[in-house]
Amino acid sequence: MKKLYIGLMSGTSLDGVDIAIVEFSSKKPVLISSLYQPYPIELLTDLKKACQQARFSFEALGKLDARLGDFYGQCIQESMHSQHIKPKDIAAIGSHGQTIHHSPDSFPPFTLQIGDAHRIADKTGIPVIADFRRRDIAAGGQGAPLVPAFHQFVFQSSSDNTVILNIGGISNISVLHKAPSETVIGFDCGPGNTLMDQWCQQHFDKPYDSYGQLAEEGTIDAQLLNSMLGDPYFKQKYPKSTGPERFNLKWLEAQLGRDQRCKRDVLSTLCELTAQCISQSIRQLSNIDKVLVCGGGTHNKYLMGRLNNLIDQPVETTEKYGIHPDWVEAMAFAWLAKQTMEGKPGNMPSVTGAKKAVILGSIYPA
Ligand SMILES: Nc1ncnc2c1ncn2[C@@H]1O[C@H](COP(=O)(O)OP(=O)(O)O)[C@@H](O)[C@H]1O
Ligand SMILES: [Mg+2]
Repeated sequence: MKKLYIGLMSGTSLDGVDIAIVEFSSKKPVLISSLYQPYPIELLTDLKKACQQARFSFEALGKLDARLGDFYGQCIQESMHSQHIKPKDIAAIGSHGQTIHHSPDSFPPFTLQIGDAHRIADKTGIPVIADFRRRDIAAGGQGAPLVPAFHQFVFQSSSDNTVILNIGGISNISVLHKAPSETVIGFDCGPGNTLMDQWCQQHFDKPYDSYGQLAEEGTIDAQLLNSMLGDPYFKQKYPKSTGPERFNLKWLEAQLGRDQRCKRDVLSTLCELTAQCISQSIRQLSNIDKVLVCGGGTHNKYLMGRLNNLIDQPVETTEKYGIHPDWVEAMAFAWLAKQTMEGKPGNMPSVTGAKKAVILGSIYPA
């Protein structure tokens, strides 16, 4: 069997972990197996606390790092077992980890992902690459987005200028020009699902707005929308990256002020904020031919409809171009692990603002 790579992605939505087992021997990567495992409730509760910094001790953080590493290791074992894949078939695992805090513009800048990679290596007997983002930050970059190089590898077309739009907790784009000599652009547009999810959890007791049904029933509040779009992040020039450290319920409460509002209308308005910050990001680019979408946000039918209305170019999911939208990011981390194992860079200085392309991550031997 050809050597395979495993990619693990757990993004700012805090929904769980996506695992992709990928073969890279042909021209296009082939997804051999995929598994999504939601976070067990106790893990989720503590991850949320850690992200919100609600009096989180070093001891609690150390234990959470270990528990998360064990959880990742167990999920990898399950996904290999279901496909009868053995550790010797896998060259390496690329584990993004769970971001606890991303602060690329502080002094000094830093980003922190947890999920002890030593424990993943120990449990699986496979080398693990982790801690990708900190190397880019050390090289003067934003540490994000890291997926554009993979997007280029898979989706660059000689006939179309293509935008790859990922809608996770945060939304980010990669701009791939048909002329390969043109540099790739990429940045975080702003919130993806994170504000909608947080509002749904607080007011509707649901993890997210399934298919966007609640948002569709509400009315967009133009004044609230304009106020939110006034956040300086949206006008900031790229390279730029952001996270729930900025776009969270506290931020939203400051926008809402004291007025009583219909919860559904606020949700519609948050959905519109996501659609508008994305469409504005794409509108500032020239000569774009098509937009391909991936990430959990593709399941939000109402959001996808709004994007179709607001964006001039055709908006489709990545599925039409060979990769199911749910697995692009996890596959990207399998590819980034391969890059590191082969001594090749994974970041793009034109995207992150790093002073040079660097080999990302640390290698944790089997
Ligand atoms: N059926 C659905 N309807 C609406 N939104 C969905 C659905 N399924 C997933 N999502 C959204 O996708 C998010 C997960 O997307 P994901 O790409 O995993 O983000 P991240 O990379 O931040 O973890 C969920 O939190 C939710 O907001
Ligand atoms: Mg996710």
